[in-house]
Amino acid sequence: MDITDETFARLMVDLYGSLPRQGPGSPESTRRAFAMLGALPALPGVLDIGCGTGAQTIELASLTQGHIIGLDVFDWALDTLASRIEEAGLIGRVHTIQQSMDEMEFSPESFDLIWSEGALYIMGFEHALKTCRSLLKPGAHLAASELSWFQDDPPSELRQFWAAGYPDIKTVEDNVRLIEDCGYEMLGHFHLPAEDWWNDYYTPMLSLLPSLRQRYAEEPDAMATLDENETEMEMHRKYSDYYGYEFFVCRRPSS
Ligand SMILES: C[S@@+](CC[C@H](N)C(=O)[O-])C[C@H]1O[C@@H](n2cnc3c(N)ncnc32)[C@H](O)[C@@H]1O
Repeated sequence: MDITDETFARLMVDLYGSLPRQGPGSPESTRRAFAMLGALPALPGVLDIGCGTGAQTIELASLTQGHIIGLDVFDWALDTLASRIEEAGLIGRVHTIQQSMDEMEFSPESFDLIWSEGALYIMGFEHALKTCRSLLKPGAHLAASELSWFQDDPPSELRQFWAAGYPDIKTVEDNVRLIEDCGYEMLGHFHLPAEDWWNDYYTPMLSLLPSLRQRYAEEPDAMATLDENETEMEMHRKYSDYYGYEFFVCRRPSS
């Protein structure tokens, strides 16, 4: 996409900034994945990669008494999370770090739990799995949702759509194999339900589109981005049996 950095930055805030979350998910799915973890220390150190405005970060803070770092590259997302942290009385226990996941500066074996909802694809799932493994203490956990094929014969229209948007998409089975090959023990995985795509993500985004189309009417690249988002929703409406987010919960073995 040939869109200027300035227009892109503005559009990101306008399109995603006011949504309850920046990708598919729900408190129920966060809790379901959390319940699949093995035993954690009483006060685990948790890293939430690509936290966005922190829907799952705040949920995690209700599930564990540990210290949580929400890491994201965008200041507008972290500003919203900072307000949520303050409102929830979590200052001192939940922190934000503005940093790219490609340039994380934590020491090896720093965390008891790494969480990431809909974000590890940004660094490439395989590279992310290897990076996270080195940041986890032996015996520590990774929970991450990753776009995956649910069937291995997707219709060509859908295959073409994701070939452009996420050419690395793999089947659930291939992702399970990849996770194990990257040195994890799989504890379990599940599909995010359809309502996780719509309730806090597509439906509120859909309601923003008419006003954004007016605001960006003179900016063809921005309009193309809005069109892409609408096409993505259409794909999900038609083909959600064929693909979706799979939530994977796994552990770095103790030895
Ligand atoms: C699909 S959203 C998911 C956000 C959040 N986890 C959720 O489920 O609502 C992906 C997130 O990754 C963030 N992101 C994009 N590139 C990044 C990077 N290089 N490093 C860290 N975060 C990044 C975006 O700002 C966005 O918040």
